[in-house]
Amino acid sequence: MDRKYIIIAFIYGILGIALGMWMAATANHRQLPTHTHMMLLGFTVPILYAAILKVWMKITEPTKGLWIQFALHQTGTLGLSIGLYLLYGGFAKREGLDPFLGVSSLAAFAGFVLLFLLFLKRKSPA
Ligand code: HEM
Ligand code: HEM
Repeated sequence: MDRKYIIIAFIYGILGIALGMWMAATANHRQLPTHTHMMLLGFTVPILYAAILKVWMKITEPTKGLWIQFALHQTGTLGLSIGLYLLYGGFAKREGLDPFLGVSSLAAFAGFVLLFLLFLKRKSPA
């Protein structure tokens, strides 16, 4: 589980840094929120999730709850990354994207809260 998080995180990291380099090279920073959230929500947060799973929760086999958490985070992050890219790139209108961005945000947020609940439920493993 932690490995899956880390592999997908690096893919976001590579794409997010490439976008940052493009922003720097073209002096066009309008994709700043896309870059920020690909790097923080796509890379940094999942690396922390992986560390929490491995170091504190000592999870070896993923449970149903963890799969749901994984799916919520990944759906939310993918939705936000694509949605923000379309929005700040001027490829789609705000009104059309709002519901999509809203649902994606709620998914990422629900994943965040769910890991906290799963963490509380798992009492000091050996
Ligand atoms: C070669 C690597 C990178 C390049 C070329 C790059 C480029 C940029 C650029 C051009 C900006 C816009 C600055 C502005 O308009 O104020 C920016 C902002 C930002 N970058 Fe990167 N970035 C890189 C790596 C990273 C990494 C590794 C992270 C995080 C893990 C990150 C997180 C952020 C954040 C959070 C902001 C927004 C800061 C703010 O609110 O002012 N970047 N980056
Ligand atoms: C459901 C998840 C999230 C949503 C919906 C969200 C939404 C937003 C919005 C609307 C902004 C203002 C963008 C602008 O007007 O420029 C913003 C900025 C920012 N967010 Fe998030 N955020 C989320 C998660 C996170 C997470 C997990 C982090 C850090 C770990 C983060 C870090 C930042 C930073 C550093 C900025 C300021 C830089 C920028 O303007 O891009 N966000 N976020």
